[in-house]
Amino acid sequence: VAQCDLDWAGVAVRKGDLVHLGLASANRDPERFPDPDRFAVDRDSARNLSFGWGMHFCLGASIARMEGRVAFETLLARTKQIEWAGPPAVWAPATALRTLEAFPVRLTPA
Ligand code: HEM
Repeated sequence: VAQCDLDWAGVAVRKGDLVHLGLASANRDPERFPDPDRFAVDRDSARNLSFGWGMHFCLGASIARMEGRVAFETLLARTKQIEWAGPPAVWAPATALRTLEAFPVRLTPA
């Protein structure tokens, strides 16, 4: 809830207004990330907001990154090929963070 009147990137916010910030869309800001809609695993992630920022930065970021690294390293070591299986991805209805409910893939064992 805005504590005072302010202009935020050209948008007038008045004291008492309820402001909803979209963290997920910040990661696709074309002013910060070139070609933001392209899935690029090698993109420089130094400035992304996936774990938040500042005093409320995610307390679990280190363990989440470690678990992700172990999971993907294990998956990649055991598979020769990972292909999209055809049916479209299913997204959960969400306003803050987008979440996949299903993304069918076909795995070819190594
Ligand atoms: C891929 C996994 C994860 C993602 C993407 C993620 C994302 C985030 C984000 C964006 C925030 C900031 C929310 C805000 O600014 O309001 C946050 C906060 C937080 N996360 Fe995570 N998180 C993950 C995993 C975890 C895990 C595994 C834990 C605990 C073991 C955890 C504990 C917390 C806590 C306690 C906060 C609140 C910090 C505070 O408000 O001071 N998170 N997380």
